[in-house]
Amino acid sequence: MTRITVVGGTGLIGRKVTALLRTAGHEVRAASPSTGVDLVTGAGVDDALAGSSVVIDVSKPRTYDPDEVWRHIDLATRTLVAAETRAGVLHHVALSAVGTERDPQPIPFYRAKAHGEAILRGSGVPFSIVRATQFFEFGAQIGAQARAAGTDDVRVADAEVQPIAGDDVAVQLAGLADEAPSGGASEIAGPEVMALADFVSRCLAAIGDDQPVIADPRALYFGAAIERDELLPGENARIAPTRLSDWLT
Ligand SMILES: NC(=O)c1ccc[n+]([C@@H]2O[C@H](COP(=O)([O-])OP(=O)(O)OC[C@H]3O[C@@H](n4cnc5c(N)ncnc54)[C@H](OP(=O)(O)O)[C@@H]3O)[C@@H](O)[C@H]2O)c1
Repeated sequence: MTRITVVGGTGLIGRKVTALLRTAGHEVRAASPSTGVDLVTGAGVDDALAGSSVVIDVSKPRTYDPDEVWRHIDLATRTLVAAETRAGVLHHVALSAVGTERDPQPIPFYRAKAHGEAILRGSGVPFSIVRATQFFEFGAQIGAQARAAGTDDVRVADAEVQPIAGDDVAVQLAGLADEAPSGGASEIAGPEVMALADFVSRCLAAIGDDQPVIADPRALYFGAAIERDELLPGENARIAPTRLSDWLT
């Protein structure tokens, strides 16, 4: 049995990872503001890590405002790796996003995630980074964001995606808790490439929203103009099994 702290353990992926690890017999702490642990203020962080040899960080800022996201990820990552160093943590598993390594990186959220990865790499804490594509659970949120851009219809970037089930991401992260740190980054994606518009439209339809979703070359993706293949993983990505159609049903 390993003692593991899941930072962001009350979120979408965090809840799944926590459940998998507990089922596997590990002692798991779910750390987040709702359990009294805040990486930005530092509250409760040392206590949350005490005795843990593995930390899985699946935390995420509550906003997409570029300055706030940068500030959050910068502070949160520095706070976490400093506490891990004090606690003697042996493996930090970080969840990041496919595309963060591209330079220049136009998407502000991804730039901040790349900054967090760089802090981790330079921290001296042994680590593994997993970069995932868009979660199936995120499809409707992309649609909501596109609708909030001030148009009547839903217009998304004319790009392709290879989205993945949150459950498959969680399985990969939980498995890494039992492995040695890789000291590098790996990618994970779903089994199918599809148009972003198609992905969003199918996810919206599944929650009863039949608004047409249009692929618009001028539409931004979370504040940035992107290339058609910008969100796709590289050829060495691990391919997860769950298909969107199976997840939707
Ligand atoms: N969405 C995607 O398609 C996608 C793709 C690739 C990678 N990712 C990455 O996957 C990770 C997990 O995403 P998710 O959808 O599971 O996120 P989520 O459901 O929004 O959960 C975020 C978690 O972070 C916690 N948190 C917020 N502020 C915090 C703070 N100051 N200190 C500590 N914890 C804090 C939240 O705690 P509370 O519950 O207390 O608010 C929650 O547990 C993120 O790092 C994200 O960047 C996402």
